[in-house]
Amino acid sequence: MHTIIEPFKIKVVEPIRMTTRAEREERLREAGFNVFELRSDDVLVDLLTDSGTSAMSAAQWSAIMRGDEAYAGSRSFFRFEKMVKEIFGFQQVIPTHQGRAAERILFSTVCSEGDVVPSNTHFDTTRANIEANGARAVDLPVPEGLDPGEAHPFKGNVDVAGLRSLIDDVGADRIPLCMVTVTNNTGGGQPVSLANLRAVSEVCRSHGIPFYIDACRFAENAYLIKQREEGQESRSVRDIVRDMFAAADGCTMSAKKDGLANIGGFLATNDDRLAEQERDLLILTEGFPTYGGLAGRDLEAIAVGLEEVLEEDYLEYRIASIRYLGEHVSREGVPIVQPPGGHAVYLDAAAFLPHVEPLELPGQALVAELYLEGGIRAVEVGTVMFGHTDPDSGEEIPARMELVRLAVPRRVYTQSHVDYVVEAVVEVWRRREEIGGFRFTRRPEVLRHFSAEFEPLYAFGSGG
Ligand SMILES: Cc1ncc(COP(=O)(O)O)c(C=O)c1O
Repeated sequence: MHTIIEPFKIKVVEPIRMTTRAEREERLREAGFNVFELRSDDVLVDLLTDSGTSAMSAAQWSAIMRGDEAYAGSRSFFRFEKMVKEIFGFQQVIPTHQGRAAERILFSTVCSEGDVVPSNTHFDTTRANIEANGARAVDLPVPEGLDPGEAHPFKGNVDVAGLRSLIDDVGADRIPLCMVTVTNNTGGGQPVSLANLRAVSEVCRSHGIPFYIDACRFAENAYLIKQREEGQESRSVRDIVRDMFAAADGCTMSAKKDGLANIGGFLATNDDRLAEQERDLLILTEGFPTYGGLAGRDLEAIAVGLEEVLEEDYLEYRIASIRYLGEHVSREGVPIVQPPGGHAVYLDAAAFLPHVEPLELPGQALVAELYLEGGIRAVEVGTVMFGHTDPDSGEEIPARMELVRLAVPRRVYTQSHVDYVVEAVVEVWRRREEIGGFRFTRRPEVLRHFSAEFEPLYAFGSGG
């Protein structure tokens, strides 16, 4: 058989409330055109994020029932810790309530004022946590990673020559760690090859710089290595994961992605002394080291999820469903980041709306139009999220790419939902020439995409 099907049956359903175009236009105006301000009841297909939105399995729900809610020494923690050690190979495992809590603890332990932290591309919370500690977050993607149309298999790779010259420029003693995000979420959800992880590891080790992986989508990255990297095709995903993390000294993880859980995360390392300092901080804000801001039942759900996410039937379906969405829209001419990655399809808003300048927020316009067209909630990953105001000149600096991410929650939507999304994207593509730009009416200083407000610079919707 050639048809790849969802490797599960549906046991519980959650209704979606249908909305009209007029209603959606009204909701969008009330929300200041920021889709983060919409109520989920007003959204038909929610592709805002794949984070914390997974459907849990029957095995996860039953594990929840055996959650041990003891304050200290909970059985659930030991099950969770065993699974993390088994999969990732790190000896010190610190649970946190989500990924950014692990980042905050890590960076506030290792970063000082004036330090530099390189990465393929930092995620927004990673960058914000580094900068909150007075350090500088530097992105070093390979050049292919910045060209949406180029179909390179590992556009998430780090520019290793760029990393070497950064180390020469700033000095290894100013680099408390190097981080690689797998898959590279803000760079189009693109995977990092095993060869690149090993090359980065070698450069870091030769300079005594700890190497960390932002592991949110480790299983999807490993499956893409299996599919795309020469010599890896007949290996198990578990073995590939082992090798990825053997190259590293530690990781941060948001279990809301490839943990297949709705909340949770962890920080892991082999450095006992560092882990001790991190646990002291953990107690201050997250909780005792055997729960770290989570309920025992959450730890149970994550332990089961980490095992399920490595099932290859699941990964085959997961990666095929993203490819299906990408191929069906690009077949109609819609420009996307090629090839589709592990968790999302990224529309190339700059190529979709070439007549809209980056500072007129083409990605924001596409996000608004997709919601109007089909009640689909996507997210802008461009100048709204990553543009900034130059502190010296006061000038607004656009992002390197103008993307719109259609992130697909795990095990949630069926093929007909995806077909519906394809239809809406293609419809917006057909009337692209009528679409114009947007401008900020409220522009917060940090993590501005969450609470910014906008107004259209063209006759949006009914034109009112
Ligand atoms: C690559 C990456 N790193 C870190 C995070 C932060 O994780 P959390 O949302 O659990 O704090 C995210 C979340 O979307 C992410 O995609």
